[in-house]
Amino acid sequence: MSPRPELAARAATLREQIERANHEYYVLDTPSRSDVEYDRLLRELQTLEREHPELRTPDSPTMRVGAEPQGQLSKHTHLAPMLSLGNAFADDELTAWEERMVRIAGDGARAGYNVELKIDGAAVSLTYRDGMLVTAATRGNGTIGEEVTPNVRTVRDVPLRLRGSGFPALFEVRGEIYMPFDRFEAMNEERGAAGEPLFANPRNAAAGALRQLDPAITASRPLRFFGYSAATPSGASLPVEAQSALLDALEAWGIPVAPHHRRCAALEEVFAMAHEIEHRTRAELNFAIDGIVVKADSLALQEELGVVGGREPRWAIARKFAPDIAVTRLLSIEVNVGRTGAINPYAMLEPVEIGGATVKLATLHNEELIRTKDLRVGDWVQVKRAGEVIPQIIAPLPERRDGSERPWMMPSTCPSCATPVEREADVVATYCPNVGCPGRRLEGLAHFVSRGAMDIRGLSYARIEQLIEAELVRDAADLYVLTAEQLMQLERFAAKSAAQLVAAIEESKAQPLSRLLNALGIRHVGTGAAQLLARHFGSMRALMDATEDEILAVRGVGATIAHAVIGYLGDPAGRDLVARLERLGLTMTEATAAASGGALAGSTVVLTGTLPTLTRPQATERIERAGGRITSSVSKSTTFVVSGESAGGKLEKARALGVEIIDEAELLRRLGPEK
Ligand code: IVH
Repeated sequence: MSPRPELAARAATLREQIERANHEYYVLDTPSRSDVEYDRLLRELQTLEREHPELRTPDSPTMRVGAEPQGQLSKHTHLAPMLSLGNAFADDELTAWEERMVRIAGDGARAGYNVELKIDGAAVSLTYRDGMLVTAATRGNGTIGEEVTPNVRTVRDVPLRLRGSGFPALFEVRGEIYMPFDRFEAMNEERGAAGEPLFANPRNAAAGALRQLDPAITASRPLRFFGYSAATPSGASLPVEAQSALLDALEAWGIPVAPHHRRCAALEEVFAMAHEIEHRTRAELNFAIDGIVVKADSLALQEELGVVGGREPRWAIARKFAPDIAVTRLLSIEVNVGRTGAINPYAMLEPVEIGGATVKLATLHNEELIRTKDLRVGDWVQVKRAGEVIPQIIAPLPERRDGSERPWMMPSTCPSCATPVEREADVVATYCPNVGCPGRRLEGLAHFVSRGAMDIRGLSYARIEQLIEAELVRDAADLYVLTAEQLMQLERFAAKSAAQLVAAIEESKAQPLSRLLNALGIRHVGTGAAQLLARHFGSMRALMDATEDEILAVRGVGATIAHAVIGYLGDPAGRDLVARLERLGLTMTEATAAASGGALAGSTVVLTGTLPTLTRPQATERIERAGGRITSSVSKSTTFVVSGESAGGKLEKARALGVEIIDEAELLRRLGPEK
């Protein structure tokens, strides 16, 4: 029996709403739905599809996970070869590359370049047929790759169905699957704590996750995607004439495109941009790049220039950055104690310059890593610095040993309080079990006051040490009873600095619940998880009353986090600290916009076009803070549309539906003065 048409229509609406929420969340970074709402939509769709399996479609968001493990990966023949790139390591090599293009295509070859980041991940090709993702494959040998469709479906920013129109009926989107640095670090931290082997770098982690036979494993790894090119079957062509326009088109179709791409009229501009990206932009990125890619912008010119040896295009080249690797001596291995009590070894290195910075220290994560790499004190080692990641030792150079190198042993007592350390069976980490350990307290307080947490300015590491030593502070709650008089008794405090610090501590009481949750230093709960929890539960009380299953039901929160939260809030010490902080007047709620009764409470707002002064995230933030809700398409329930320059279809739709249209000036007036 075929389902009633209203059910099919409901399923279609749900799919559309969920995919839009995914796009806003993962690609645009401007979510318009709460996690609770999102879950409700997803659950309704799952139920509908379970009761009426014939309603299931291959592009349904419920299909992102749930495919069965495969026995082995099958082969996929690419529509057109996936090319690789020649390399340039200096500006004059780019000049030589341009000259070669000019020799072949004449002066017209100097018609402008598109410069993009070279993402250091794993290349994939996504086949879209009539806008639906049908296949995803790895690069393989360039002609034939491995099919990894169920895995790629789990990558939340890969659209299962393209948006808009104008895309070819059949084509492949090429791009890179990568893992953001912050997610990579958090994942490794969790793996370390769970006694699992660590990944060496985000690229290996991404490539490994992509080729899993069980998509459920891929789904648990924080993968993302950036598209950078497209291929059509021979005979067909793309609806654009330049690489720069292709990137815009990909974006319009819902494909995430890496930031910082730009069209450069001449090579001089490319040199400047390469310099800027290598020395400035790179350090700010949350993902690894290993250079930039320079492409002749015109697709017709690309066609004319062709490919060398069936492998490397003449019209594109990778400008690689100086590798951030150096060789130096491992002088000693020291340990410190972290806020959770984990004893972390780190390497003291003979100072060496890497990518413009002097490196003296490198992380070693845990004892296991030292053993698997067979690091010995006195070894010559390769050291790497990638973006913002702390320097790491890649490997020792055993051929340079002279016999004087010594294996290292984890000390048997805590470096801070001398309590004998403990090592849980099957867990790689070694712990100081003393909750009163001054080293642990220091790290815990340093985290509590740090920028992403309570953000208490003026409380440096040295000052926290001073406060602990003077026995003025044992835990976070003690900070809130400090007086200026007490501080002035201490060295290096004057009346003014003491008063300033007391004021800064007082001010931090207003930080929302998400900051406090991060500040508490609950294992596995960083900024991201803290925000998800705070937004979902709204108050500390609600979170404390929640069961592990209820926490697990929060989108983006996994079993490790849920377990750690229950462990912390279920523990008398944790509950006691929270209760004291509450009595001291710290904020225990998250101002969900709707609850704040702001100027736009209850309004549904659509933004379209470019506003004269506010960026889209800024406008979104202000509207949400005022209690408004942003949606991406205009409907009868839209309260008003804010229209900027080159607004398109949304404006027409608003006019057709008689929805109010205002400009930025009017929006600002309605928002009132910024608080
Ligand atoms: S274009 C026409 N653009 O680099 C040549 N590749 O070393 C095809 N890569 O296999 C590649 N970012 O996996 C292109 N913006 C970008 C890229 C990029 C990363 C990778 C890609 C390719 C490898 C070549």
